[in-house]
Amino acid sequence: MTEETLTIRNNSTGKEADFSLLKGTIGTPVIDVSSLNKKMGLFTYDPGFMSTSSCKSSITYIDGEKGVLLYRGYPIDQLAEKCSFLEVAHLLMNGELADDAKQAEFEHEIGQHAMLHEAMRSFIDGFHYDAHPMAMMVGIVGSLSAFYHSELDMNDPEHRRISAMRMLAKMPVIAAACYRHSIGFPFVYPRSDLSYCENFLNMMFSLPSQKYIDKDNYIDPVAVKALNLLFILHADHEQNASTSTVRLASSTGANPYACIAAGIGALWGPAHGGANEAVLSMLEEIGTVDRIPEFIAKAKDKNDPFRLMGFGHRVYKNFDPRATIIRKACYEVLEGLGGSEKDPLFELALELEAYALNDEYFIEKKLYPNVDFYSGIIYKALNIPVDMFTVMFTIARTAGWVSHWLEMMAEPGQRISRPRQIYTGHDIRNI
Ligand code: ACO
Repeated sequence: MTEETLTIRNNSTGKEADFSLLKGTIGTPVIDVSSLNKKMGLFTYDPGFMSTSSCKSSITYIDGEKGVLLYRGYPIDQLAEKCSFLEVAHLLMNGELADDAKQAEFEHEIGQHAMLHEAMRSFIDGFHYDAHPMAMMVGIVGSLSAFYHSELDMNDPEHRRISAMRMLAKMPVIAAACYRHSIGFPFVYPRSDLSYCENFLNMMFSLPSQKYIDKDNYIDPVAVKALNLLFILHADHEQNASTSTVRLASSTGANPYACIAAGIGALWGPAHGGANEAVLSMLEEIGTVDRIPEFIAKAKDKNDPFRLMGFGHRVYKNFDPRATIIRKACYEVLEGLGGSEKDPLFELALELEAYALNDEYFIEKKLYPNVDFYSGIIYKALNIPVDMFTVMFTIARTAGWVSHWLEMMAEPGQRISRPRQIYTGHDIRNI
């Protein structure tokens, strides 16, 4: 089969050159412009990476027009229905769903790596009580390399694997410890007899005076199922801003803990993972249904920086399949957790969604609810405090970050990521 190419022509000079069209298994073909400078003395300009593929990856596929999301080829709705978060994490990291024995081994190892070094306690205690938990997460995860000097040879696949497992195992433990520090409660150690989600809930909410899990080992299955679902839906999303940050930092050869800490920093922004916290604050600010038109008008006003949080997505231009799943889960969770599905914030969110979806501005710009429009409502029902919402996202996305990191580090011929620019400053001048 002859190679498909595309010719780029400089209309001023008439100079032209051919470039290969690269094709993945599915998805939009990509022009390989890596030789553009060499062949034509030109760079491409694409701020915000609107039309740029930064790497090859076999982990996650998104079709934004059709609302398709696949992890390693499996549709997100099937994984959400049939798998646990750690089964999905195994799939993302290793390429395949594990059989029962392999999965048990994987989960056993996660249990083994969950403990934090005791020195971490004094480190966490050093944070002021009102530190934002995301600030603590960036610092603590970044510091992990200081504890594991002996397994930081990134040319050794086993060192890479252990580093990835450590981060997946420790992230919920660090997250819960940050929360406990902020409320002045003692840390709760992880338990290897509990599942990943049960363990997290226990570390968050168990008290010396009042155990979260009773003597019959009971833990509300609705809460566990809801957490599992949210973690699966947030686990990966191909080259999103935080994953791209992890990849860019990794391209320098930096240690994996530093790279994941960089990703956590990127996730924190309100345009990315910070949106779940921002959605809840927005809903609380709107307060009542009659104020919806006022806020929709603000979102449409070019002179007002306000945006409808939880709406819009760079890739999804019809619907976000994760939002559809979470919206449905909201009813089940609110009802199942012993309350009623008539949470006023959920009612308000449904009204706001309906209003925006019928508004010309949102229709024309193809703005739909994204994964985080409804996730905060479930987290709130689970008693997760609002400033922990992005931390929850961090726990889940760690599975994706470490998978991309493992994939990238195993690829031969890695180069440092180093974009160019259009210089708009002074030409050379003398003092
Ligand atoms: N409210 C109002 N207007 C919006 C919104 C919104 N939420 N989102 C986009 N727009 C408008 C923009 O003003 C822009 O209008 P213009 O063409 O007249 O200038 C147009 O829609 C396109 O928006 P961009 O910002 O160019 O789209 P981009 O792909 O760069 O941004 C993003 C996507 C960041 C998600 C954006 O839609 C947004 O800020 N949404 C709110 C924050 C949010 O929910 N983030 C979570 C994303 S999902 C995730 O990370 C888990």
